[in-house]
Amino acid sequence: MLEIHDRKTLTCLGSDNPYLNGAWEPCDTEWTASTPTLKVVQGEIPKDLHGVYMRNGHNQVHAPIGKYHPFDGDGMVHAAHFENGQMTYRNRWVRTTGFLAEAAAGQSLWPGIIEPRKAVRRGWGSIGAMKDNAGTDIIVHAGKALAAMSQCSEPYRLDPVTLETLGPDAAWSRVLGERGICSHFQIDEHTGEMMFFNYGEKAPYFNYGVVNARNELVHYTPIELPGARWPHDMGMTQNYCILHDLPMFFDQAALAKGQHRLKFHRDIPARFGIIPRMGHNRDVRWFEGQPCYILHLSNSYEQGDEVVMEGCIQTNPVPDISGLPKEGYDRMNALLDMHRQETRMHRWRFNLKTGQTREEDLDDEVTEFPMINGRHKGRANRFVYTAHMVPGYWLLDGLKKYDLQTGKTQSWHCPPGCYVSESPFAPRVGAQDEDDGYVLTFMTDAGNRRAECVIFDAKAIDRGPLCRVELPGFIPLGAHAYWMPMSDLKGHTA
Ligand SMILES: [Fe+2]
Repeated sequence: MLEIHDRKTLTCLGSDNPYLNGAWEPCDTEWTASTPTLKVVQGEIPKDLHGVYMRNGHNQVHAPIGKYHPFDGDGMVHAAHFENGQMTYRNRWVRTTGFLAEAAAGQSLWPGIIEPRKAVRRGWGSIGAMKDNAGTDIIVHAGKALAAMSQCSEPYRLDPVTLETLGPDAAWSRVLGERGICSHFQIDEHTGEMMFFNYGEKAPYFNYGVVNARNELVHYTPIELPGARWPHDMGMTQNYCILHDLPMFFDQAALAKGQHRLKFHRDIPARFGIIPRMGHNRDVRWFEGQPCYILHLSNSYEQGDEVVMEGCIQTNPVPDISGLPKEGYDRMNALLDMHRQETRMHRWRFNLKTGQTREEDLDDEVTEFPMINGRHKGRANRFVYTAHMVPGYWLLDGLKKYDLQTGKTQSWHCPPGCYVSESPFAPRVGAQDEDDGYVLTFMTDAGNRRAECVIFDAKAIDRGPLCRVELPGFIPLGAHAYWMPMSDLKGHTA
């Protein structure tokens, strides 16, 4: 099968913005395509791979208002559905309220993160001026996919197989109102619960919530913070969540005048609030850590008296750009450069008895976008899969696997001009070991304008791909990804 679902004229093309060109150039076509029409260019699709690999990302349609940032674009989900050694690929824009309004107008109606002052109408996000692009993360909860953007937006539900946009979650999105949901929600696969947070520029600056396995909002509570913050992720263990109050936030005096100037406050410690899963502000125990910012955690778990949190720390999250030209894109690239940001795998240990925090680096190499076996989320895990980052650019050019027990690592690097996105772990049907399965990614070949779905043996990613399937068209790099086992499909068919 090879069908075009929809095709749009992209008026965002033609600029010199690096995030609308090369590996980031948006694609114009929505496809539905299956093997054997889809070409397997290397190996065989494993017969014990059963489920859907989904990846969200920003795929802008209209010429942007103001300077475009890679987190601004319209959300587009790409999915590879595996069953019996066959694969079906689909990609669909997330048809949010903002996306539909811009489609009707035939042009952009909202600016992005960099120039919110150019907004002429109220928008979404913690800044209140962006389009609700729902392009940052995607997970599956209560049988439906859920997509949102990191700056907070309405939680959009999608059919996990057809990727049809079903709209903002009908059961609880209205309760959250315009505050919405931050994209890095946490799923406990053992209970089916989803933990989430949101944040904004007016008090309460932060809210924490729990949606149960039946998709009922069973907990939603404000958390007191000293001011407006810009968190991106949170930790989850079997009994707790770990909330982030990090010293990278908008300059408060400038914010009072309506200006958004991100600043890293090196003299303010990071604070981590450990809250029981159904706890309130009064139950939060705050721990201090070295000043830092955190984009993505790999996992958190309980061990004796300690709550352990692992992920990618940034100890220089706002690099010095004072010597760089104001025109062009050097400043944006520098601010997004994970190497300048001093990003690396790190571990925090919060001792619930003593109130002390202990920290250690797990690596000195720059990697980000950590993923683990979803069954181990909130429980102890041994293996983490991350991505290598190209110095100077927001480009992922390889995979790295950590064995936290032995300290050994494995790496695989993309062929020249090729890049990957966040790469989730998919357990083999009947898997026993934590790493008995596959690592999946979409690989963009920027030079040859083509893309592939690439499958690795999770036990040996350094041996390179087991299988590569060519996609029907070029796709740009994306943001976050998720593996949905077939057991979560509940009657859906490809
Ligand atoms: Fe993220």
